[in-house]
Amino acid sequence: MFTRKSLWLCSLFSAAFVSAAQEGPGLGVQATPAQIAAWDISIAPDGEGLPAGSGTVVDGEVLYLAQCVACHGFEGSGNPNNQLVGGHGSLSGPRPVKTVGSYWPYATTVFDYTRRAMPYAYSNSLTDDQVYSVTAYLLFLNGIIDKEDVMDANTLPQVEMPNRDNFVLAYPENPDW
Ligand code: HEC
Repeated sequence: MFTRKSLWLCSLFSAAFVSAAQEGPGLGVQATPAQIAAWDISIAPDGEGLPAGSGTVVDGEVLYLAQCVACHGFEGSGNPNNQLVGGHGSLSGPRPVKTVGSYWPYATTVFDYTRRAMPYAYSNSLTDDQVYSVTAYLLFLNGIIDKEDVMDANTLPQVEMPNRDNFVLAYPENPDW
């Protein structure tokens, strides 16, 4: 049975509960702008979000041999993991070989993916210059850019990938999707 005192305590607790719920669970601390920027690393197909810096094919080869070759093979030939080079012209045949070069529609995605996911065990560990360099090396091996080409926020979005025009929109009536 409620006494006057227990009713009073009850209303005090529920008032405290409501105001705590309105403020949030009170867990953790607010993320700083620097922390958010560190996670907010998506690069759009048109290159929006690409960082400053640049990279060359020659530097990319050095990095590739140190940090990628064990899993992706010499010159991106594959084994034990994904083949990154070649497969051009194979997509419509009986044995399509999907690589960065034969399949991916945007060069900027090579930067985005490599920076966020590679090397497999140390993702997001490369500097932006290193990512530009190894991206340049992969594009060069695929015959898409020349050995002297330098990749940066300006040049990388201008690289036209061979398979770029062969993707169809799943919802052509809503091109923004
Ligand atoms: C320890 C092994 C390992 C290392 C080292 C490694 N990768 Fe990978 N890589 C993988 C695996 C496994 C996948 C497939 C991941 C998946 O599909 O989820 C992959 C996928 C990729 C892809 C996407 C291929 C595709 O067609 O989908 C790219 C590009 C790539 N790696 C680039 C690199 C680069 C550049 C380096 C060096 C900086 C590197 N990787 C180092 C294991 C590795």
